[in-house]
Amino acid sequence: MARRAENTVNEMKCVFPAKSINEGLARLTVSSFIAQLDPPISVLSELKTAVSEAVTNCIVHAYRGAADKMKCPIYISATYTAGGILRIAVKDKGAGIADISLARTPLYTTDAEGERSGMGFTVMESFTDRVKIRSAPGKGTTVILEKRFDVK
Ligand SMILES: Nc1ncnc2c1ncn2[C@@H]1O[C@H](COP(=O)(O)OP(=O)(O)O)[C@@H](O)[C@H]1O
Ligand SMILES: [Mg+2]
Repeated sequence: MARRAENTVNEMKCVFPAKSINEGLARLTVSSFIAQLDPPISVLSELKTAVSEAVTNCIVHAYRGAADKMKCPIYISATYTAGGILRIAVKDKGAGIADISLARTPLYTTDAEGERSGMGFTVMESFTDRVKIRSAPGKGTTVILEKRFDVK
């Protein structure tokens, strides 16, 4: 009901296994959808980067150590409203996050190998208008990226 009241005009959903080869797929799928809003190239590029960060987190953190990645789904859904509000949800059914505000802290990472910068959520926040995180340990995480567009 809430969504109908906001007047959603288009929607896209996709699901793929948490394999690095699918990072490019996620970027292209989402950018094709966003292109309908006729964004400046810089905004498109920033949103692709934000989506990449969210998808990479599912691959490297949510399903860390999983033996069969084919059983590790990543769900992406995207909608936009008549008023120009774009929402992209990136969801996993992996490890979850125990302390969400700690996870959002710049430079915070649980990556022991030292390959990660701990700046993923900071990048998502700086390239969007709002980042919502819902998570439960052992159940999974949903990251919602919101961006407002000027509709002509
Ligand atoms: N989808 C997720 N599932 C489980 N943990 C996550 C997820 N996304 C982020 N995290 C946790 O939040 C931390 C911060 O994420 P981020 O800012 O992207 O930094 P980085 O990925 O470089 O560690 C990660 O180190 C991880 O502990
Ligand atoms: Mg990250």
